[in-house]
Amino acid sequence: MTDTVPINGLALTVNSPISGPRLDRLVTELATGEPTDILDVGCGWAELLLRVLAASPDAVGTGIDLETVDVERGRSAAVARGLDDRVRLIAGDAKTITGAYDLVLCLGAHHALDEDPGRALTRLRRLTADGGRLLFGIDYWLHTPPPERLATMWGGADLQDSCWLPDVVDAAAAAGWRLLDLQETTQQEWDDYECGLVRNQEEWLLQHPDHPDADELRQRLDRSRSEWLRGHHGYLGFACLTLAAMPGG
Ligand SMILES: C[S@@+](CC[C@H](N)C(=O)[O-])C[C@H]1O[C@@H](n2cnc3c(N)ncnc32)[C@H](O)[C@@H]1O
Repeated sequence: MTDTVPINGLALTVNSPISGPRLDRLVTELATGEPTDILDVGCGWAELLLRVLAASPDAVGTGIDLETVDVERGRSAAVARGLDDRVRLIAGDAKTITGAYDLVLCLGAHHALDEDPGRALTRLRRLTADGGRLLFGIDYWLHTPPPERLATMWGGADLQDSCWLPDVVDAAAAAGWRLLDLQETTQQEWDDYECGLVRNQEEWLLQHPDHPDADELRQRLDRSRSEWLRGHHGYLGFACLTLAAMPGG
């Protein structure tokens, strides 16, 4: 237990609302396609990329994320698993990445390329070889939140901050993708994700109730719990789309 407030998210496996069994299933399915050159856009600490690489012995991978701390965490994991000779993790802006990969991962990170999912899907198509695959994870509105509920979500929450699932699939088709598989994650996976995001900080707080930074952290955690349970809880879903790049798309 560190003596300074730890960064959040250390209890999560991936930084998306995806359970362990679902992650295993996704990795198995993605490795079945025997990818050779994999890109992870907004990879975070690259857990998904590292797992797909471990299951695909002939593949090499590139991951890119703005968060240096997360990229360092991914690099350490790559070394610990003996994958560092097959993976390049870049701390940088995904908009700078070029190339044509046969498998692209973009989980909860389309904003790294464009705020608009349709435009992000077009950019992702350019990064994918004809016939290649994309795993695209995105949040979407399960129900239309009334204005009073939007007001209790994250600061300045707007209907435009998320999207409708059929619109995403239509936008994917317009960008040159065909939908092969769709998995909608469950409310329990969201709840596990929200708790996992702050779990290590909650544990730290229990160990350091009188720390000079404890009050500020407690208030921040109370605020984010309220924004979740009084805000987007039950209104936001998360879907994992497996998309195939149409030749010439
Ligand atoms: C919700 S997290 C998902 C991380 C990872 N894909 C996962 O599922 O574990 C979104 C990630 O996108 C990254 N990101 C946002 N804008 C970016 C940009 N312009 N370039 C690269 N990464 C970016 C964030 O730093 C963050 O790690």
